[in-house]
Amino acid sequence: MRFHVLTLFPEMIEGIVNTSITGRAIKNGYMSVDTVNIRDYSTKKTMRVDDYPYGGGAGMVMEAEPVFRAVSAIEDKIGRKPRVVYLTPQAEVLNQTKVEELAVEEDLVLLCGHYEGIDDRVLQEVVTDYVSIGDYVLTGGELGAAVLIDAVSRFVPGVLSNEESSQFESMQDNLLEYPQYTRPEEWHGVRVPPVLLSGDHTKIEAWRYEQSVLRTQERRPDLLRNSYRVLCVTYGDEGDETDALVMSLTETITRYGEYQDYARRKLQKTRRALGANELLILGVPAGITDPEKDVDAAVRFRNLRGTASPAVLVFSPRAGEEVRKSIRDCLTKNGFVIIGVYEAEETGVEKIREIGLEIRKKALHFHDR
Ligand code: ADE
Repeated sequence: MRFHVLTLFPEMIEGIVNTSITGRAIKNGYMSVDTVNIRDYSTKKTMRVDDYPYGGGAGMVMEAEPVFRAVSAIEDKIGRKPRVVYLTPQAEVLNQTKVEELAVEEDLVLLCGHYEGIDDRVLQEVVTDYVSIGDYVLTGGELGAAVLIDAVSRFVPGVLSNEESSQFESMQDNLLEYPQYTRPEEWHGVRVPPVLLSGDHTKIEAWRYEQSVLRTQERRPDLLRNSYRVLCVTYGDEGDETDALVMSLTETITRYGEYQDYARRKLQKTRRALGANELLILGVPAGITDPEKDVDAAVRFRNLRGTASPAVLVFSPRAGEEVRKSIRDCLTKNGFVIIGVYEAEETGVEKIREIGLEIRKKALHFHDR
């Protein structure tokens, strides 16, 4: 990932990004942050880049031409038109989904304004994304750019060590992190919750999920609207790549996925009703029989019920047309809304992550219908 920051104060950016984890990532070559001083592209002998606003009013406005030239210089250097993000309070506030969306880019140009803003004509011409880092006004876009670089860098391969890895994080579930504790076991008379000392990882994960939900309810109830519990259903068809793919896809979407193998007799008899905040990810291996024709298969599908619940289907490329149609119809009839259909041939970590992100965006959208 290469960040190109257009700014009047390069030292503000450099001071921040060359420190700590981003500093290490730059030194090790996993990412780069080039600062471009917009003043270097001034059209005037004085090297000024601002002027009075038409129509009067307080403050100065950054001129269009220096910004345009600075962006063009980057385009010439990299040989294509990159995404250009303008940091401004007049935009949607940055969130984790947007961060991940930006992280797939090879180059990102971050444009930092100052004074009373930038001549709108150049913004119309070059900017692809408007991003705010919060509903307050800063003196310029530099701190916003640094925040964006920091958040995006966590998704750049190699930037975080395994231990620091962002892979399993509650934020991707639109939940806040659960509380953390370290030694000593008792501090100021308060003991660490006993479950964390139990060594039982299933219990610990369940406790953490519960704590995350409680914390989110208490501190950021607005996030819960777009939070999904993910149920990953497979059919245990050994030798079929679909199951493994569907499971790793679920892992990229959620930390708290529930995995059920419907090939197990016990589960086939269990009725399962999903709510609107539950997302079904269903893997369909080639060997699955048509639920319209096969009673056994029909029972399994009928036991899966939704309440306008979003569902994603992942078919084995060898699954027949009839089965595909029949399963779609069956799910729709049972109260699911299919938000995505994928083929199980899409392998590779990057590709799976991309699909995972797409599904999460669709799920967010699904709720805003
Ligand atoms: N520039 C000024 N205020 C800002 C904000 N809140 N977010 C991003 N850029 C800004």
